[in-house]
Amino acid sequence: MGRFHEVYRRSMADPTAFWAEAAEDVAWTRRWDQVVDDSRPPFSRWFVGGETNTCYNAIDRHVEAGRGEQPALIHDSPVTGTVATYTYREMQERIARFAGALRGLGVGYGDRVILYMPMIPEALVAMLATVRIGAVHSVVFGGFAAKELATRIDDATPKVIVSASCGVEGQRVLAYKPLLDRAIELAAHKPQHCVIKQRPQVEAELAPGRDVLWEDAEAAAPPAGCVPVKATDPAYILYTSGTTGQPKGVVRPTGGHLVALKWSMKNIYDVDPGDVYWAASDVGWVVGHSYIVYAPLFHGCTTVLYEGKPVGTPDAGAFWRVIADHKVKVMFTAPTAIRAIKKEDPDGKLLAKYDMSNFKAQFLAGERCDPDTLKWCQDKLKVPTVDHWWQTETGWPIVSNCLGIEELPYKPGSPTHPVPGWDVQVLAPDGSAVKPNEIGAISIKLPLPPGALSTLWNNDDRFVTSYMTEYPGFYQTGDAGVIDDDGYLHVMTRTDDIINVAGHRLSTGGMEEVLANHPDVAECAVIGVADALKGQVPLGFLVLKDGVNKPHEQIVAEVVTMVRERIGPVAAFKVATVVQRLPKTRSGKILRRTMQKIADGQDVAAPATIDDPAILGEIAQSLQTVGYPQKG
Ligand code: COA
Ligand code: AMP
Repeated sequence: MGRFHEVYRRSMADPTAFWAEAAEDVAWTRRWDQVVDDSRPPFSRWFVGGETNTCYNAIDRHVEAGRGEQPALIHDSPVTGTVATYTYREMQERIARFAGALRGLGVGYGDRVILYMPMIPEALVAMLATVRIGAVHSVVFGGFAAKELATRIDDATPKVIVSASCGVEGQRVLAYKPLLDRAIELAAHKPQHCVIKQRPQVEAELAPGRDVLWEDAEAAAPPAGCVPVKATDPAYILYTSGTTGQPKGVVRPTGGHLVALKWSMKNIYDVDPGDVYWAASDVGWVVGHSYIVYAPLFHGCTTVLYEGKPVGTPDAGAFWRVIADHKVKVMFTAPTAIRAIKKEDPDGKLLAKYDMSNFKAQFLAGERCDPDTLKWCQDKLKVPTVDHWWQTETGWPIVSNCLGIEELPYKPGSPTHPVPGWDVQVLAPDGSAVKPNEIGAISIKLPLPPGALSTLWNNDDRFVTSYMTEYPGFYQTGDAGVIDDDGYLHVMTRTDDIINVAGHRLSTGGMEEVLANHPDVAECAVIGVADALKGQVPLGFLVLKDGVNKPHEQIVAEVVTMVRERIGPVAAFKVATVVQRLPKTRSGKILRRTMQKIADGQDVAAPATIDDPAILGEIAQSLQTVGYPQKG
């Protein structure tokens, strides 16, 4: 048995011993009494009785161990023309001061702080300052609209919201503060204070009494130390799309998060303390939480915070420039970013300008990695390109080639083998395990390893019904796929109405809720259609109410604006078409998958349950008017 399989076997045979050993790598203020308490399934609690602090493990312990002068963070911002480096000691000072500022604004143990931030160092400072004082952060991605932010404010009920005057998206400056003000207006819950970082590009107007300038808040406060919390206390809440417009508040438990993320840095990514690690994502996503902020800092690495795009800031060589300038050893991005680069620089000519000698591995996740993208990376970058599969809920990779244990052979289209700790099984509808190579629901046998979600915020019931009910004893990933004869997983499709747009997970159900609110729309459906750059993009079908005689283009333009205003530009909802009726089963279920196949140009047989097969021809015609199936 090779080394990888031996480690995997150990993690399955005795998870308690395996994770207790990994937990030795974390600094605890009180050791745990029990490695895992599984007495109330499906809720499992790791490191029960243990106490620790996330910020201490990310920052202070490294200063105490002599890494104070090592860069902790490099902020590389081509959109503002700045690069700034902060050592572990500088981060400690800034975080302690901002933690004191939060405390001065009334934030304490267990309180929530929402962050609505662009990719600036203050985003990391605010996250780490929150966990430093035992509070719980919830970062909301800047591409979400005011309404989405309002939903999260009402669910997390924060005492304080931290934001900035603007974000810079490529060439455009986007004011954040009006969105924040609007969200607070829409929300029933009102935060006591907002802390605003003014950026030079836009000056935000402050609401007297409620809003505080970042600098003033910092200056007024004595620095705060690290407050130990229970291993089972939440470190953060991160909202992710479910199948409805109400997002799910994934709760990340403190102890398991520390243990699993620290373990992943060496074993999966093969980086060591002192190495430079870069995840080109956004702090608003799980990749940003785990691999821009927490894991690299837990491991004593230097992390890169990149405020730019793969292309256009200024060109398709931007990623290679960052790798060369900062001596990045391992980088992580989404396949869509590579597709954007490949489109502009198919031969990788820009690569030749940069010294890539420190670069050792390229990791990809967030969406299915198409074989062309994989091959392009392998050919051009000449380092291992690792497709790995995971989700917001799991917090760290479920299936990956573990470069720090043993590099396994690659198979295009597969993220390789389950990572130690994850008992991945593919199940048939009756709950039995399917045979190798047969498709089924990708499920994970409970208990989930440390670091995975412990519940949904304030909603244990939804946690159980969403993930744990369909196959008792298993967590449902929502993905379908196969495990082949070599034990490799192939992820094929979602089993629900979630689509993946440029590596961002979005709910078509949420978009349908917006379209259905248009006064002229009687019925609607949103599907994800294949897109050469973004993987998938949403496409809407509208059935109008009787008697509506407004031009269809006008109605389409109105619903496009509504989705942008209510969900946000990140939804990339740009195309909709008016149809006479929607294809349905005889029991009235809309046949979204069938419509998706037609839009993607696949062969479609009318399902046996279809009410009226003639509708499929109408749908195909209507799709042609908006350019689907796409050519080439
Ligand atoms: N704040 C405000 N708006 C934002 C935003 C933010 N943080 N991030 C994105 N948006 C806006 C964009 O400006 C764009 O708006 P537009 O419709 O007015 O042009 C819209 O949301 C869609 O953004 P995006 O998905 O980034 O598309 P794009 O066309 O601007 O760029 C890529 C395409 C491929 C370059 C881009 O999607 C990309 O870099 N993807 C990498 C994905 C990634 O990091 N995923 C994280 C998981 S690993
Ligand atoms: P998110 O929670 O936003 O990280 O999205 C998670 C979902 O993205 C997964 O459930 C998959 O559907 C998809 N996904 C992420 N990584 C991969 C991958 N490497 N291959 C295939 N699908 C992926």
